[in-house]
Amino acid sequence: MKLKLFSCTLLLAGTLTAQAQHVMDVNTKKLGAAVQPTMYGIFFEDINYAADGGLYAEMVKNRSFEFPERLMGWRAFGRFEVRDDGPFDRNPHYVRLRYSGHNDKFTGLENEGFFGIATFRDATYRFSVWARCPEGGSSTLEVSFVDNDTMGEDQRFATAKVEVSGKEWKKYTAELKSPRTEPKGALRIFLAGRKATTDVEHISLFPTDTWKGRENGMRRDLAQALADMHPGVFRFPGGCIVEGTDLATRYNWKNTVGPVENRPLNENRWHYTFGHRFFPDYFQSYGLGFFEFFQLCEDFGCEALPVISCGLSCQFQNPDPTKPGVHVPVDQLDEYIQDALDLVEFANGPVDSKWGKVRADMGHPEPFNLKYLGVGNEQWDYDEQHGGYGPVFTERLKKFNDALRAKYPQLKLIGTTGPNSEGWDFDLLQPRMKELKVDLYDEHYYRNEQWFLTHGLRYDSYDRKGPKVFAGEYACHGRGKKWNHFETSLYEAAHMTGIERNADIVHMATYAPLFAHVEGWQWRPDAIWFDNLRSFKSVSYYVQQMFAMNKGTNVLPLTMGGKPVAGQEGQDGLFASAVFDSPTGEVVVKVVNTSKQPQEVVLNINNIKGERTAQTITLQHNGSWDDENTLEQPEKIMPRLGTMNCTAGAKNTLVVSDQLPAMTFRIYRMKK
Ligand code: AHR
Repeated sequence: MKLKLFSCTLLLAGTLTAQAQHVMDVNTKKLGAAVQPTMYGIFFEDINYAADGGLYAEMVKNRSFEFPERLMGWRAFGRFEVRDDGPFDRNPHYVRLRYSGHNDKFTGLENEGFFGIATFRDATYRFSVWARCPEGGSSTLEVSFVDNDTMGEDQRFATAKVEVSGKEWKKYTAELKSPRTEPKGALRIFLAGRKATTDVEHISLFPTDTWKGRENGMRRDLAQALADMHPGVFRFPGGCIVEGTDLATRYNWKNTVGPVENRPLNENRWHYTFGHRFFPDYFQSYGLGFFEFFQLCEDFGCEALPVISCGLSCQFQNPDPTKPGVHVPVDQLDEYIQDALDLVEFANGPVDSKWGKVRADMGHPEPFNLKYLGVGNEQWDYDEQHGGYGPVFTERLKKFNDALRAKYPQLKLIGTTGPNSEGWDFDLLQPRMKELKVDLYDEHYYRNEQWFLTHGLRYDSYDRKGPKVFAGEYACHGRGKKWNHFETSLYEAAHMTGIERNADIVHMATYAPLFAHVEGWQWRPDAIWFDNLRSFKSVSYYVQQMFAMNKGTNVLPLTMGGKPVAGQEGQDGLFASAVFDSPTGEVVVKVVNTSKQPQEVVLNINNIKGERTAQTITLQHNGSWDDENTLEQPEKIMPRLGTMNCTAGAKNTLVVSDQLPAMTFRIYRMKK
């Protein structure tokens, strides 16, 4: 974590006098429940151009000419023709380029990229194309970065040549070095020099400097931002995208593995889910597929948590489940269940198994050691007052569970309580998850400020004998102000103290969504924002990071007047939790002051002899709680390091006295 060091005394000097002392007791004598290594993680979905146009570093849009409008994203000129008998059976379209008939007329293609083709000064880019000269002979492709808006003489600012020869399809590559940083360029290809008729397919451009230098790689800055979150678990590929608007467009993991050239295109539901944020050029290339996902989990040292379709397409978009073709009938789920079984084999199976071999052929003979699998995203059953269609989700989930349990008894299965954190659908599903004996269930809550401030005790009353909880999607959506401003992120921190206090029941929590392109978002707030050259971490990102980097290993009881500190009446907007961190031997206390007043806080930490200096990590706004980070000011609000003297109190109790400024989240770490 990048932190700015400053003295805590400066902070103290700037605060107002607190009204009442809030004495919190932290009991370190007995370690509480283990905080699971999976506790804080990441939720990934290709929404807001998170994959294509985002984390996935491919710069060419519609590289295989498979968008329904075959030349979307391209400008074709001269004599060209789109054909459909190419070398990749699942992506059969390609473009035939012919000599224009006159040396002064050009034939070629130009790609606009995702919101432009952006290049960095002195960076190199790998261009590749599958090509052939179908009538024999040879040709030259002149590949350039161009700036079509320039007032300069030459639109081109980097050029490479690719010599194509022979009637067989082959992959050709060339490197282009950009002499300048250009946010809104384009990629132009001329049939130049020798001009035999040339077929081109799967035209691709990646920076050579991807995350870990991989050819089919990820954008380095965005992957690094994920690594810096220190995730314990990584949920993929969503989200509603798992379900599809219809069954045909569900996320089918089998289409996302093997050579990228032959991964078939899928519609991205987020291109039309919101008419008011419409992106007709949003498709899924599946270049970031299940292999790349498992590889990233390995890079980050976290558990993979794939979610698969349970045979129900999006229930929001298909309100009448009895309509033929909307969902897979319960007695016809075999293919879907087989997909789930095969995914486990792809991840963990031996290299001589069918899907283990696919993994090995992709370069990873060792198993990925998958331990978790989610079945269904936001699914629900219906009661008599709400449609009366019956247990449409749980009857399907049961079939998946039975088959998966029979073959993979060690695998931990994750069900769902649907899109709501309370209400009739949640109340219907929660007991059913227990009956079905899922290991965890996935809860979603995008709620406003008031909800976050009043649900601090949400998990304290949960049934300890049921399945564990995966808070799989949550974020505080400001009432009427849906952006990543400081206030809502602070309330997320407050809520997370309740998650941490209840670590015996909550085993995973992932903020959502993760990524958003500033020019292509459908949903906000989001953890990480980016354009084609830059990115910034929202305040919510830093909240997640602060918890993940200070999660400790065991819960410690923390109370005020005998009660958990959860924004309860008389607690003046304070929320708090404490953990012990075995590897470092430190007590870690998190306190969130959600009130608009400074609050005096005294932490009495028992069983610690003598004085100490505590390290503090503080997240504060920078003038107003509407403050946010931006591309221009990416580090306006971020955690800041400080120190604080702690005194020795009576009976081996360490005393930390603090004036916690209004609207502040602070972590205290002290050696036991
Ligand atoms: O995170 C955005 C969407 O919110 C997810 O796709 C869906 O699961 C939820 O409704």
